Amino acid sequence: MKTSSISCAPKPARPGLGIYIHWPFCLSKCPYCDFNSHVAQRVEERDWRRAYLAALDWFAERTRGRTVTSVFFGGGTPSLMPPSLVAALLERIAARWPLDADVEITLEANPTSAEQGKFAAFAAAGVNRLSLGVQALDDAALRLLGRTHTAAEAIAAFELARKTFPRASFDLITARPGQTTAEWERELTRALALEPAHLSVYQLAMEPETPFFRLHERGRLDLPDEETALEMYRLTRRMLASAGLPPYEVSNFARPGQECRHNLLYWRYGIYAGVGPGAHARLPAQGSGAGRLALVATRSPARWLRQTLRAGGAGVAEMEELAPRQMALEYLLMSLRTREGMSRARLRAISGHDVSPHKVAELVHQGLLREAGNDRLGATERGVLVLERVIAELADTLSPAEGMTSQKLPHHPDGGQ
Ligand SMILES: C[S@@+](CC[C@H](N)C(=O)[O-])C[C@H]1O[C@@H](n2cnc3c(N)ncnc32)[C@H](O)[C@@H]1O
Ligand code: SF4
Repeated sequence: MKTSSISCAPKPARPGLGIYIHWPFCLSKCPYCDFNSHVAQRVEERDWRRAYLAALDWFAERTRGRTVTSVFFGGGTPSLMPPSLVAALLERIAARWPLDADVEITLEANPTSAEQGKFAAFAAAGVNRLSLGVQALDDAALRLLGRTHTAAEAIAAFELARKTFPRASFDLITARPGQTTAEWERELTRALALEPAHLSVYQLAMEPETPFFRLHERGRLDLPDEETALEMYRLTRRMLASAGLPPYEVSNFARPGQECRHNLLYWRYGIYAGVGPGAHARLPAQGSGAGRLALVATRSPARWLRQTLRAGGAGVAEMEELAPRQMALEYLLMSLRTREGMSRARLRAISGHDVSPHKVAELVHQGLLREAGNDRLGATERGVLVLERVIAELADTLSPAEGMTSQKLPHHPDGGQ
């Protein structure tokens, strides 16, 4: 599907829909990563195409009347996908749903030279935003992270991405073994010299069952202590904000207007399809305007493929209707990570619940929460640093809002997100 040939519905054709597509393969497994990603000897493109198309059709049946506002190819390493497969999936999406005029189509990429060679073909297929896994701008650090590219290759890949796609972003990992705050400051300065309009900065997490986790347990990974990691995070927020990329979420920084729309849809508790092994989805609960179905697809790529090819459908392993309190918790957890924060009216519309005004007043008094009007609540600069505590304290006070019963919940609580 060529970008120019996308037939777009006039805006705003609400309500909206995001589509996540998971490609579970990588060339090698990084020692810190616990994503659903695998090194495969052989990937049968024809089978994967059939399975993905079946899954898209399954979701199309259940999300009629919605307009696709974003598509996100995540992984794994989706830049390993054949561009013809990406094109076929985007064509099927355009055939099944109307597309928003500003539809955002992101693909995650690794910066190796082989993948750079495919950038033009991805753009021709309709991808209009590339998210590049740079991770570090230092060759020794990249080796330690088990990456197969150099810093120079990553910079060249980003330069090419910027020329090829209307929007490009890159990921960095901070608080790495042996890293000092001064080194991180120099690295961030180099990153800013590339003038990105969007940057994701993740603190290195020790994920259970990864080689890094085991090394850490044996005391063989020299990680910065908590205070140093916090200092690096404060520095990141300061430096990026003064360069014109304020945080719009805990780990994401962008020039105004350059925020990732697909991720915003998650954080605003929108409706999304999840296509591929292990993908999650949130659909409207059947028969009611309010409520969410939570779906998870079979995690193993081989089993997901078999299940989808044999039985059609989306390879769904679990499907449950969320209780109002669960939805309230999910919305709280996600929206408070963002700069725009949460809307109490939306919390009530989604779940019929509200947080305690006394707790809100207490957290505002402590300088951890800010209120905008009667509706919006967001973490302050200080609150972001202790966000888990702020969210837990608010979550403890969640209770059914006065005068709200499930019958009274309004229709389309996703508000078109
Ligand atoms: C699915 S991966 C990205 C795509 C691509 N496979 C890559 O590695 O370049 C998404 C991002 O998650 C981040 N990430 C993965 N594991 C992490 C960990 N343990 N701690 C912090 N960030 C992590 C990395 O920045 C990575 O770019
Ligand atoms: S970080 Fe990216 S390339 Fe490395 S294993 Fe995870 S998904 Fe694959």
